[in-house]
Amino acid sequence: MPLTDKQIAKLSQLQDQNIGVKPEEGCILSGLASKVDAGHAIVEIGTYKGKSTCWIAMGSKMGHGAHIYAIDLWDTPSGDPGYEELRCKRTYADPKTKQTFIQQIQDMGVDDLITPIQGFSHKVASTWDKPVGMLFIDGHHAYKSCKLDYDSWSKYIVPGGYLVFHDNNMKGVKQVIAELPKDQWGELTTRRFTTYTVRLSNSDQEGG
Ligand SMILES: C[S@@+](CC[C@H](N)C(=O)[O-])C[C@H]1O[C@@H](n2cnc3c(N)ncnc32)[C@H](O)[C@@H]1O
Repeated sequence: MPLTDKQIAKLSQLQDQNIGVKPEEGCILSGLASKVDAGHAIVEIGTYKGKSTCWIAMGSKMGHGAHIYAIDLWDTPSGDPGYEELRCKRTYADPKTKQTFIQQIQDMGVDDLITPIQGFSHKVASTWDKPVGMLFIDGHHAYKSCKLDYDSWSKYIVPGGYLVFHDNNMKGVKQVIAELPKDQWGELTTRRFTTYTVRLSNSDQEGG
C-alpha cells in the first residue's frame, strides 16, 4: 500500500534545513522499508532532524514493521575541527536538533518504531548483533567516513537486504559507490541523489 497524498505532504514538510531527503527520495526509502522483514533491523546513519527517518518509518509501518535504529552524533563532539565547522553551519551539533528529531517522530506517530542511538556510527557497529534488512548511509560524506560506514556496517546486511546511499553527488560517496564489489551487490538504482542496491545471495553470485 503506497503512502497517501496527505502523508507525503506531511512528510515533505518536516524540518530539515533543506538538506534532508526530497519527496521522490523519501518515497524510495519508504518503499524499500516497507519490504524489510519484521525480524530484520533498519539502520540509518545520519538522522539529523529525522526527516529521512520518518519516511523510512512510515514505509516500515505500512509494511512489516521492521524496527529502525537511527544513529547520529547530534551534540557529541566530532573531534574533527573542519567537520565541526560544517556541523555548526548546518546545526548538526545544536542540542535543539535532537529535540526536533524526537518531536518530529512523535508528531508523525512513528516513535514506537524507532530507537535513537547517539554516537559514532562505526563504534555502534562494533557491538552490533542484529541482521540488517536495510542500511541507509547519510552521515559524513567524505570518502574516509563514508567508506568506514560501509566497511563497518555492510557486513550485517542479509542477502536480499538493501544498501542505500544519500548524496551520491558528493565526491566521497560517489567513490564508495563506484568501488562496491560487483560480486556482492546487485544493479544500482539511482533516483536524484539517492542510490540503492541489494545484497546478492550465494546462489545469485553462482548464477553470475
Ligand atoms: C546530511 S545529515 C542527515 C540528513 C538526514 N538523513 C535527512 O535526510 O533528514 C548528516 C548527519 O550525519 C551525522 N553524522 C555525521 N557523521 C557521523 C558519524 N560518524 N556517526 C553518526 N552520525 C554522524 C551528522 O551529525 C548529521 O546529523
